[in-house]
Amino acid sequence: MGVDPEADASGIARPGQTGGLDAAPGGVLRFLTCGSVDDGKSTLIGRLIHDCGGIPYDAVVALAEDSRKFGTTGGGLDYALLLDGLTAEREQGITIDVAYRYFATTRRKFIVADAPGHEQYTRNMVTAASHCDAAIVLIDARKGILRQTRRHSSIVRLLGIRHVVIAINKMDLVGYDQPVFDRIAADYRALAARSDLADISIVPISAVTGANLTASAIEMPWYRGPSILQILESIDLHNDDLAKPFQLPIQIVIRPDQGFRGYAGTIAGGTLAEGDRVSVLPSGVQTTIASIGGTDGPCQSAEAGDAVIVTLTDEIDVGRGSILSSPDAAPEMSDQFAADIVWFSNQPLLRGRPYLLQMGVQSCIAQIGDIKHVIDTETFEPRSAKSIAINAIARCNLATSKPLAIEPYTTSRELGGFILIDRTTNETAGAGMIAYSLRRSQNVHWLGLGVSKEQRALLKGQKACCLWLTGLSGSGKSTIAVALDKRLHGLGHHTCVLDGDNVRLGLNRDLGFTDADRVENIRRVAEVGRLMVDAGLIVIVSFISPFQAERQLARERFAPGEFLEIYVDTPLQICEHRDPKGLYKKVRAGLIQNFTGISSPYEPPQAPDLRLAGGESTADALVETVTEELLRRQIIPS
Ligand code: ADX
Repeated sequence: MGVDPEADASGIARPGQTGGLDAAPGGVLRFLTCGSVDDGKSTLIGRLIHDCGGIPYDAVVALAEDSRKFGTTGGGLDYALLLDGLTAEREQGITIDVAYRYFATTRRKFIVADAPGHEQYTRNMVTAASHCDAAIVLIDARKGILRQTRRHSSIVRLLGIRHVVIAINKMDLVGYDQPVFDRIAADYRALAARSDLADISIVPISAVTGANLTASAIEMPWYRGPSILQILESIDLHNDDLAKPFQLPIQIVIRPDQGFRGYAGTIAGGTLAEGDRVSVLPSGVQTTIASIGGTDGPCQSAEAGDAVIVTLTDEIDVGRGSILSSPDAAPEMSDQFAADIVWFSNQPLLRGRPYLLQMGVQSCIAQIGDIKHVIDTETFEPRSAKSIAINAIARCNLATSKPLAIEPYTTSRELGGFILIDRTTNETAGAGMIAYSLRRSQNVHWLGLGVSKEQRALLKGQKACCLWLTGLSGSGKSTIAVALDKRLHGLGHHTCVLDGDNVRLGLNRDLGFTDADRVENIRRVAEVGRLMVDAGLIVIVSFISPFQAERQLARERFAPGEFLEIYVDTPLQICEHRDPKGLYKKVRAGLIQNFTGISSPYEPPQAPDLRLAGGESTADALVETVTEELLRRQIIPS
């Protein structure tokens, strides 16, 4: 194919520059390409952009030169080389990210999200896919459907991408043979039927020769369907968001002075006009839109996709994370829901562990209650599992620390798509797509009691609190707990001890010492401790509690000042030397697995409320230190 020196160079833009994309007549289509470099993905993207006139002339000249030197196409242009900068970066592991490319035809503009396809880059693919309207899944005609094809298809389905183009590539290498195409197409249709993928088109192509990319290929007269570009140009992008009920998640409250209070955000659905009644979530209070400011100044109305600042006629509580919505179609508020989670982290997802959940403007703490099943990405079948490893996808039940405005991901990415952040490392540990709200959350209600915790504690002459002793096995926690209990009892206080071994002989008899079981162990004890504090008691908890995340979770179950993290800081050598239960000896003899400090981690507290040097002082002296702290904090009166 010849090179047109007059080709419009403006089709290629740097990421972030969309060059007036939104003004395109057929709108902007965002699509994802799935497949590996071996499948011809780079060639496909390079060639599409080139054939649409999106490659500047000097780049084409350089490409011709590079193709002659390094190409694999025997003198023709090797379009894959256009994308090689990125590939090289990936090979060196400098950045593993999503590359966005831009090109346009007279009918519409396109943004291509190009993410690495290998399993270890699931995270990038999910990130890219979550913004896309369509996906091209590449299949090598010589190989047919592979494990990777199934995996990519299941991610595409999971992320609710409605339009899927299956490009059966390298048809030139199978002699443009129709039976080869028919067989793979039939296999794919069978796969799609099992996984309810929506709108599918299957096209035989050759990215290298350009067959069926932008126009029908003379080499394959038996194929009468549209080319890849024709499909991409004709996908109906009728803006579903416009047809939805009005929704505006508030990103920021703007308050330059006492006289003005505006709420800014991007309208996620529907339309809005001055004077409209709206509901404010989470409170459910109704108010009226007083004014709307758009990017070009004040306006009477706005619609989905517009960034606006609105003012309200009433002074009510609206903050970042509030949602303004149409009063008769407000999204559901829920603190328990089922979602599909894609796991990105090397640390497996643990049931009961608190993660930070970020969903658009809303955020809270979330715990996975049940892992219902892991989705087999090859067969789409559910499989039972106890934990979720990196790159796995699982349907889980989640509980959040406060109700969120939610919708199924299939109807709203804004109120249905979230990420989970590990609070210790700040790493994005996973992404989730809400499936449905759990009804049980609406049918269980907190019962307020007539006697408060404070009244109960007052009767006992103390303030209720939780003294949480953490440290290695043999550090002296239980000894201190028993002595402290006696001391406080002697002073006339009402106490209670929750000790790891004792609780594990009853309530937590079903739990062992895997990370997942320890998380659940601490979750339950934190809940029991909280009930006991509500009864007005001074609760002494003595558990190894090796993980920061769960100790923080425990702290958050209590009111400020009610929870004291007390680190019994005794060096491992001293614990092992003491070996009060003979456990370290057994560990060294290989009789105990997952032993804290040896074959299972202990994360020391970063900023405990109190540190007890367990290897240096006697238990009595340490009890004295704790008692003094309780006096200082006026938990017990002097
Ligand atoms: S935690 O890690 O889940 O907080 P917990 O405090 O309940 O542990 O229980 C720790 C006690 O269980 C230890 O004091 C010890 O007596 C016993 N134990 C038995 N196996 C292990 C193990 N693998 N790791 C730690 N403690 C163990």
